[in-house]
Amino acid sequence: MAGIKLKGVRKTYGGGTEIIKGLSLDIGDGELVVLVGPSGCGKSTLLRMIAGLESISAGDILIGERKVNQLEPSERDIAMVFQNYALYPHMTVRQNLSYGLRNRNVPKDEIERRILKAARSLEIEPFLERKPRQLSGGQRQRVAMGRAIVREPAAFLFDEPLSNLDAKLRVQMRVEIKRLQRSLTTTSVYVTHDQMEAMTLADRLVVLNEGQIEQVGTPIELYERPATAFVATFIGSPSMNLLEMAKGGFDLVERSFPQNARTLGIRPENLEPAGTGKPTALTAEVTVRAVELVGAESYVHGSLPNEQDIVFRIPGRSQIAIDERMSIGAVREDLHFFDGTGQRISEAQS
Ligand SMILES: Nc1ncnc2c1ncn2[C@@H]1O[C@H](COP(=O)(O)OP(=O)(O)OP(=O)(O)O)[C@@H](O)[C@H]1O
Ligand SMILES: [Mg+2]
Repeated sequence: MAGIKLKGVRKTYGGGTEIIKGLSLDIGDGELVVLVGPSGCGKSTLLRMIAGLESISAGDILIGERKVNQLEPSERDIAMVFQNYALYPHMTVRQNLSYGLRNRNVPKDEIERRILKAARSLEIEPFLERKPRQLSGGQRQRVAMGRAIVREPAAFLFDEPLSNLDAKLRVQMRVEIKRLQRSLTTTSVYVTHDQMEAMTLADRLVVLNEGQIEQVGTPIELYERPATAFVATFIGSPSMNLLEMAKGGFDLVERSFPQNARTLGIRPENLEPAGTGKPTALTAEVTVRAVELVGAESYVHGSLPNEQDIVFRIPGRSQIAIDERMSIGAVREDLHFFDGTGQRISEAQS
């Protein structure tokens, strides 16, 4: 077992622009860190550098106490799980699981022991003699997980492993992965685009933006106190509303907001129709443009008098009509303020 340390890691592909720009991060032994960020920000590149599939242009990567910059992937004691699980189609599940171990000259009875253990915990024991094409997508993904597990590596790297599965299976596998990672306590780095996956799996979340870390913290820290407007809109779904202070179109009841505030952030779930009796610090008149019913709740898309867009959530099925006008409000502790550079203004919360 081992933690992973990234120290000032940089990556430039073939003399082009820098993709990873001096990134440092300490991943604790047994920790599950989730990497999120927009497409192209360097998530896969970073994983591949840790795995040894991509060279490092500058900086150091340590796995445990060992500097691995120059080591081959096979020498790094890391297992990677991808979105397209790349199982060998002509081999049975059992052979797929044992292949890597046979190559490493692990004794036969030890291979057998590990396969059985992994197969039991992933519930793929009944399929061991089948070929991958005789399995469902979810079962194949389990086999891919199994192949990583039987190696008993120092760390797992996951690159959007569930993105090919349908919504229901994703949730199942998400729970499964969390349970497995807890019981194996293997250091893991997990890349996903899925908000729920990120929030529920992560011990710590890392938000990447253009090859740099925007913020690191527990999911709840990032949700409650995003350090930048970028993180604020990236964590949480639907995204936090960002309103320009200068454009107005809303009333801040308490005049205690910071003078250097350029942007006011407010989450859809923190806005409520007026008249709920709570002491609101912000109120606004909204013209309803669209209503989305998503089961237990509805999202109302509206616009403020000055045409700034705003989204808010209401519980249950809404009876709200398009073009209807309504008053909404939010309490002081749910307001986030950002300065002209997008940095959170902290004293706003005190
Ligand atoms: N082999 C390569 N040669 C040159 N540029 C590359 C190479 N691989 C990736 N890039 C570039 O590096 C940047 C980061 O790519 P990367 O695949 O790490 O992004 P990502 O964050 O994983 O995105 P996504 O969420 O879409 O998977 C992109 O601009 C991409 O075009
Ligand atoms: Mg990627």
